[in-house]
Amino acid sequence: MEKLAITGGEPIRKSPFAPWPHGGKEELAALEDVLKGTGWGGQPFPGKHAAAFASKFAAMHTAKYGQCVNTGTVAIQAAMKAIGLQPGDEVIAPAYTWEGTVGPVLLIGGVPVFVDVDPDTYCLDARLIEQAITPKTKAILPVHLGMRFADMDEILRIAQKHGIKVVEDCAHVHGGMWKGKGAGSMGDLGAFSFQSSKLLTCGEGGAVITNNLEYMEKVQSYINAGRASVTDQFHHRMIGFNYRLGEFQAAVLGAQIEKLPAQSKTRDHNMAYFESRLKNKPGIGLLKPDPRITRLAPYGYVIKYFSAQMKDIPRAACVAALQLEGIHCDGLFYEPVYKSSLFPVNPADFPALSWSREKALDLRSMYSCPESEKAAYHEAIWFPHQLFLGTEKDVDDIVAAIDKVLAGIEQLRGLDHKAIRNQRLSRADRES
Ligand SMILES: Cc1ncc(COP(=O)(O)O)c(C=O)c1O
Repeated sequence: MEKLAITGGEPIRKSPFAPWPHGGKEELAALEDVLKGTGWGGQPFPGKHAAAFASKFAAMHTAKYGQCVNTGTVAIQAAMKAIGLQPGDEVIAPAYTWEGTVGPVLLIGGVPVFVDVDPDTYCLDARLIEQAITPKTKAILPVHLGMRFADMDEILRIAQKHGIKVVEDCAHVHGGMWKGKGAGSMGDLGAFSFQSSKLLTCGEGGAVITNNLEYMEKVQSYINAGRASVTDQFHHRMIGFNYRLGEFQAAVLGAQIEKLPAQSKTRDHNMAYFESRLKNKPGIGLLKPDPRITRLAPYGYVIKYFSAQMKDIPRAACVAALQLEGIHCDGLFYEPVYKSSLFPVNPADFPALSWSREKALDLRSMYSCPESEKAAYHEAIWFPHQLFLGTEKDVDDIVAAIDKVLAGIEQLRGLDHKAIRNQRLSRADRES
């Protein structure tokens, strides 16, 4: 049996995978265009590059209107302002996601209500939504997580039945489509992130898309220090902030969006190949395919690790062993938000948690979402999308590393290694 790299053997993969993020002469030319002019910021609003990118990005997702903002977190916040979220309103969100999905809800006085995820997709479980609806529910905030979509058919049906809004968190799904409709275009608004790990990136940035002009006008005012929107047909006036995207970042996005279709094609091909090679491996499970996803846009390839089939060797050891074989991957990528050390909610900072209640809601102890906890702490392994931007040989290496680790799983029993200890820590608490 081959000695695993984590116990001193030769790693399967010694050369790097495709770099991410990655820029070239197109990004340089666009940056130079900004540099040579005087319009570096987002004012006058919107900047030339930001406006051109936003309309292209909206059209790509079958939405009428698009607006760049400075982060994905702000995109969610602006979308919540657009639907008129008031302090005390409740927003239903999946427990298994990045903290930035619900942080903006709290920040503007809303109350996040966590619902478990569907084990087939790791996305918000639509079957559990209705029992979480109360007279205070303002919106559902599904996240199209990893490589799947939340069940938008059901979510839109429930939202319509109860007269509540839908804001899609699309931070993982640039270019994705559900039954021919673009991610973010089916709910009232869609929010995207262009942070550097994302499928489309400019380092930091975000966008809001919608088919509703009134919402777009509110988003524009909110992120532009309350100024009138570009069209100003609805004449909304509000306190706003400067959440504009600078032109350098917008210029990079303009170049990157042209590259996305070719990257998606390579990724789709390599991921399909990966999937074909993973089928029927003991210890490994795949998320359920959904034919309603008519264009896949996977932020990461997510598999399930079943330690019970692997002699009870925990995921942390398996992931650390894969890492030492030269394969980037993560197990504790997300935690149920209510358990995460990045969610140290103090009710004194968020008064809406106490309104009309004897005791403030304790968001950290009041939830138990078993599927989210299983995915977060035991099962899910995330492979970043850039691993699939190269060749089939790259995929062969990933599969060879998985095979090697699974075959040598017994070598991990009782092993103490820094990479394993690191994997047991949440991302917020790790060294790197
Ligand atoms: C699911 C999800 N929602 C929201 C965000 C927030 O985006 P940003 O980091 O650009 O603020 C991210 C990204 O980090 C994310 O992964």
